[in-house]
Amino acid sequence: MSPEPNRTLSPTDTDWWRNAVFYQIYIRSFADGNGDGVGDLAGIRSRLPHLADLGVDALWITPFYPSPMADHGYDVADPRDVEPVFGDLAEFDALLAEAHALGIRVTVDLVPNHSSHDHEWFQAALAAGPGSPERARYLFRDGRGPDGSEPPNNWPSVFGGPAWTRVPDGQWYLHIFAPEQPDLNFGNPEVVADLEETMRFWLDRGVDGFRIDVAHGMAKPDGLPDMVPMDDTGLLDDHGPGDHRFDQDGVHVVHRRIRAVIDEYPGTMAVGEVWVSDDERLAQYLREDELQLAFNFKLLTAEWTPDGLRDAITHSLAAVEGTPAPACWVLSNHDRPRHVTRYGGGALGTRRARAAALLQLALPGAAYLYNGDELGMPDVDLPDHVLQDPMWFRSGGTERGRDACRIPVPWSGTEPSYGFSSGADTWLPMPDGWASLTAEAQRTEDGSMLSLYRAALELRASSPVFAGESVQWLQAPDGCVAFRRPGGLVCLVNLSGAPVPVPEGRVLLGSAPVDDGTVPDDTAVWLHA
Ligand code: GLC
Repeated sequence: MSPEPNRTLSPTDTDWWRNAVFYQIYIRSFADGNGDGVGDLAGIRSRLPHLADLGVDALWITPFYPSPMADHGYDVADPRDVEPVFGDLAEFDALLAEAHALGIRVTVDLVPNHSSHDHEWFQAALAAGPGSPERARYLFRDGRGPDGSEPPNNWPSVFGGPAWTRVPDGQWYLHIFAPEQPDLNFGNPEVVADLEETMRFWLDRGVDGFRIDVAHGMAKPDGLPDMVPMDDTGLLDDHGPGDHRFDQDGVHVVHRRIRAVIDEYPGTMAVGEVWVSDDERLAQYLREDELQLAFNFKLLTAEWTPDGLRDAITHSLAAVEGTPAPACWVLSNHDRPRHVTRYGGGALGTRRARAAALLQLALPGAAYLYNGDELGMPDVDLPDHVLQDPMWFRSGGTERGRDACRIPVPWSGTEPSYGFSSGADTWLPMPDGWASLTAEAQRTEDGSMLSLYRAALELRASSPVFAGESVQWLQAPDGCVAFRRPGGLVCLVNLSGAPVPVPEGRVLLGSAPVDDGTVPDDTAVWLHA
């Protein structure tokens, strides 16, 4: 029996996600409630006041389901339960109720493309043998070559090496990611029905929506033909035509099924992780019976240059034009170097990250923050022996993987683990020298990154200048990016290398002081004009 849903937020505000600020919690690294060095649901509960104070509208919690952790939870052994390392269902229900009571919605990760090799279905598929209905839930094939000893096609795994692994009876199974993540067969109605059951399981508990992992995956072309050969090392590369692993037309059938379930629960939503760079192909995921939102990764991949930023914004807006969806902006996540680091690191990277925050939050649509963005967390260079990402192992140590952007969040104190855990040891080590980065240190400091985010989110939530979903580009000095929203918000970012005059209007917020009438280099300013 499902528990009573405990959604307490306004049931009539069904479009809340259109301009929401979402906060991504990478659960292992957010807050540790039981002192084992790994973040968990109890840790999230204990930090809800921070999130309410920051002013976010909704959370996206990365996978917390039972998992052998070959890909830190994106290898799901049972999508309808909680991994003991992270807590249990009662803890999840308590977290949901407390977040809702604070006015914060909660969305969870859905990982449809693959299961863990520990999932009971995959274990049954191994046991049942070739040609069985159990194998038909996955993508098992005979190999090529006289004795079938070559993989069925040339697809590489995103994490390096071939996308196929051979089992003892001689067949091969497909895994676009790690071998511990066998791809499910979405041509099999049982697989789609199981996904729907998982969605209802969490929706019945009261979650407000889903982030859909690898939402451009799932469908595979008939016959699994060879793809255009590519360098097999790029993580979540820009999968263009010719890469048959992703963005197949059949994927839209799955998205319609997902949306039909969402529509049974008014006020819930789904955002897709869609790594598709072509604007028109991306738009197809946002048709009225598919996803409500798709991450647009163009800001996350853009260079810190005026043309790079303008281009990212133009393409992101073009992709949603003509669809019912607003844009959806991302600067950082658990798969890519953090933007403080991308923008040069140190004082320079931080200064640019402050400006980028105001840019992201000035744009129309939804925005996703990654935990630690609000503290200005950088990546951390980790020694080889602590690396854990499957990419590092699968690439034979040529790709360092994503651990650097997954360091636990520093909360308080002056030495590791900075209040993240009751002990000093954390699943990825925290560096010395982070005392001034902690939430505690930044909370009362006017010029801190945290204060900037709080001020920006407060303005965004309360001021009518943010009305309207379009942007009008403004004339601005060379090297600057400036636009106006219909409600009257003007945002100018100065990347010109020298100060420029503050534009006309009433200054609302600056990423650096602008009181002398100029906007310094690598600074953004919000005005009402
Ligand atoms: C997504 C996740 C990433 C994971 C992969 C496989 O891209 O964001 O962390 O490794 O899917 O599930």
